[in-house]
Amino acid sequence: MSSTAVSSTALSPVPSVIPRARPDSGLDAVIIGAGLIGLAVAWRAAQRGLRVALADPEPGSGASYAAAGMLAPVTEAHYGEERLLRLNLASARRYAAFAEELEQVAGTPSGYTARGTLAVAFSQDDRTALDELAAFHRRLGLESEPVDARGCRALEPLLSPQVQGGLHVAGDHQVDNRQLVAALLAAIGRVHVPLHRHPVTELLVVQGTAVGVRLATGEALYAERVVLAAGCRSGSLPGLPPGALPSIRPVKGQILRLSVTPGVAPFLGRAVRGLVRGAQVYLVPRDHGELVVGATVEELGFDAQVTAGGVYELLRGARELVPGISELPLTEAHAGLRPGTPDNAPVIGPTDLPGLIAATGHYRNGVLLTPVTADAVAQLLADGELPEEARGFEPQRFTAERASA
Ligand code: GLY
Repeated sequence: MSSTAVSSTALSPVPSVIPRARPDSGLDAVIIGAGLIGLAVAWRAAQRGLRVALADPEPGSGASYAAAGMLAPVTEAHYGEERLLRLNLASARRYAAFAEELEQVAGTPSGYTARGTLAVAFSQDDRTALDELAAFHRRLGLESEPVDARGCRALEPLLSPQVQGGLHVAGDHQVDNRQLVAALLAAIGRVHVPLHRHPVTELLVVQGTAVGVRLATGEALYAERVVLAAGCRSGSLPGLPPGALPSIRPVKGQILRLSVTPGVAPFLGRAVRGLVRGAQVYLVPRDHGELVVGATVEELGFDAQVTAGGVYELLRGARELVPGISELPLTEAHAGLRPGTPDNAPVIGPTDLPGLIAATGHYRNGVLLTPVTADAVAQLLADGELPEEARGFEPQRFTAERASA
């Protein structure tokens, strides 16, 4: 097999129905990457009767393992990212049903809880920034409730007396991302999706069409379509023609896990996001006693080292908000790599390389966007069309921008 570069004619508008590729292998799709996105795509596609396979040497590692699992489209809303916000909200709306169905199929917990999120401000300047976020919410019709300092401490008694006030967002929920991975692995097992625990060494391209992947074992897996869901490594897959994907860069996030003895004393009742003198920190409690503290945002290429400075900054911010964390055992310090795109939004849909579908680049929203991405890619695989809510996130938005620049 040889790889061919994508031709300039392939940069013309993508037909909504994807041309079928050879050879006939018995597989409708092979999915590169068994993080949350790849696993959920496989599950949803298999539910539609498609024959799919996954390839990943370490399923559920990477960003899916590192994440905190906040489902927080409102408290994480950013100016200028309103289109992404709509997709985030669409995914948040379907989370409860997704999690319930998954638990029924998998027979294990999904880790989803519908408790809200409290965003708090530490200094007066932080309070001004939070007030601006509240005004942004009002303009967009998003539900968030301003809470004064006393109200914040009534909701979360362990908050520092210095906290100036906050915003309560009942609709921003959370999921234990590691339980979610385990449930999805069980679910794909139930629908008999083969999982090849080997690295993909090459995208196989024949006559300008993606036809499968080669595994590190040397084995080729042919399929009608290839779904690229390899997170921050998506852009560096050997055989991927230049221009088929926008640049996808690793954005490091260091994240900590502390331990609260369940049932001994209440700690936090909901996720708390803090602005501490302009720096962001979040604390996400789990029912089983874990407290997740995250996360740094660092542009350092593929460096995934935990550093003393990263850990210090996270603990300092978290301790200023919730002094009682000083007493908790620190059980894990980890660094993951988020897949960042030029506009911070994911890349979902057919690429300019026929046969290749992108489901990657979810940056800070991979856990949140799992249900909507899985539904969109499964529909694309089954019917040849992206659903309305996923339109505008195709990779061609970057080629169109380049052409008009
Ligand atoms: N969405 C949280 C993070 O990326 O840190």
